[in-house]
Amino acid sequence: MSSNLSRHVFSDCSSMKNLVTRRLRRVTQLKFFERVWENIPLIPPLLRGNKGDVFPAPSPLPSIGINLMKLYSLTVLANEKIANDHFVMCFEFPGNAGEILPGQFVNILLDQMAYRMPRPFSVFNTEKNQISILYKVFGKGTDSLSQVQVGQSLSVLLPLGNAFPEVFLDGLCLLSGGIGVVPLYFFAKRVFEKSPSEAKKIRVYLGASNQSGIVCLEDFKKWGCSVTVSTDDGSLGISGSCLKAFQDDLKKEDAFTKLQALAKTIFACGPHGMLRAVAKFSEVKNIPAYLAAEEVMGCGFGACVGCAIPARQGEMPYKLVCTDGPVFEAKEIEW
Ligand SMILES: Cc1cc2nc3c(=O)[nH]c(=O)nc-3n(C[C@H](O)[C@H](O)[C@H](O)COP(=O)(O)OP(=O)(O)OC[C@H]3O[C@@H](n4cnc5c(N)ncnc54)[C@H](O)[C@@H]3O)c2cc1C
Ligand code: FES
Repeated sequence: MSSNLSRHVFSDCSSMKNLVTRRLRRVTQLKFFERVWENIPLIPPLLRGNKGDVFPAPSPLPSIGINLMKLYSLTVLANEKIANDHFVMCFEFPGNAGEILPGQFVNILLDQMAYRMPRPFSVFNTEKNQISILYKVFGKGTDSLSQVQVGQSLSVLLPLGNAFPEVFLDGLCLLSGGIGVVPLYFFAKRVFEKSPSEAKKIRVYLGASNQSGIVCLEDFKKWGCSVTVSTDDGSLGISGSCLKAFQDDLKKEDAFTKLQALAKTIFACGPHGMLRAVAKFSEVKNIPAYLAAEEVMGCGFGACVGCAIPARQGEMPYKLVCTDGPVFEAKEIEW
């Protein structure tokens, strides 16, 4: 074996090893937190509950910085399939849904779930007395969520996590990978509702592995955002990732000043590998980036440390996705 070939083989083996280690860690984390969830006597009465229970807000509750979370028993108003494996679930919400911010998420509990752990979902949309999520069926939890009937009540903990920061919309680029579109959709919609002319300044790069993963395209267009679609298999739009589509656009602008005008801030959400690539790119090009992480979670409110990710800055060697995030400035985290 030539030295070049062996280098490639070894580097492939090591990335495969990293991938396998990461997967195993996620599975072990999930199994561990399911056990914790089942066995800690304090958490189940607070959060698990039985069907039909109305949950009082446990007091005192940890503050998450923006709003105080509560556990609600919410009635499902709709649970509709909008595309292949993608569903929108809408709940009747007794609080002021307008206070929920783009980037924040909810934790949903289902008694019938194959797993007892709650499942986190970004807030997709809010209306006056309604809140909705958009989810993709990945495993048993989301599959059982897709079978929930209208009129059924679910235990939902919300609002959780922080939000995207307020930034100038001139030169704001949204990079979305797969189901990562959800919080970015909510952000753009809020901008449009506040000022339709401002929404036109936003550039959106919608990516997915294939055509069936591209959702919300027409909404972004309707709000006047400039949208570029990309798919890994080339079945729709540019072939490759949303970051590649974004980089291709930047390459067209060769002067540095133009680059600064085109991309002043990045908001991104998607799989971990994509976020790592965006973080690296933003560092090299010196463009501030805010990334919404979608890590495996347990409690959702800072109690179990199940969502810790390595930090680059700050006093602690790690940050919690549920309470310090899910939105982080790229340079805060060791992606
Ligand atoms: C802050 C946050 C926001 C999210 N927003 C959305 C959203 O808007 N729409 C959406 O479809 N999904 C979202 N997710 C991912 C969603 O929580 C998982 O897809 C879901 O929990 C999978 O559950 P499952 O039982 O169907 O899958 P499982 O059978 O448990 O696992 C299938 C896959 O999902 C991953 N996964 C499992 N549990 C979690 C978890 N708790 N957190 C992250 N990944 C997990 C596993 O690594 C595995 O790859 C979000 C996750 C986080 C942390
Ligand atoms: S999910 Fe429990 S601490 Fe973050």
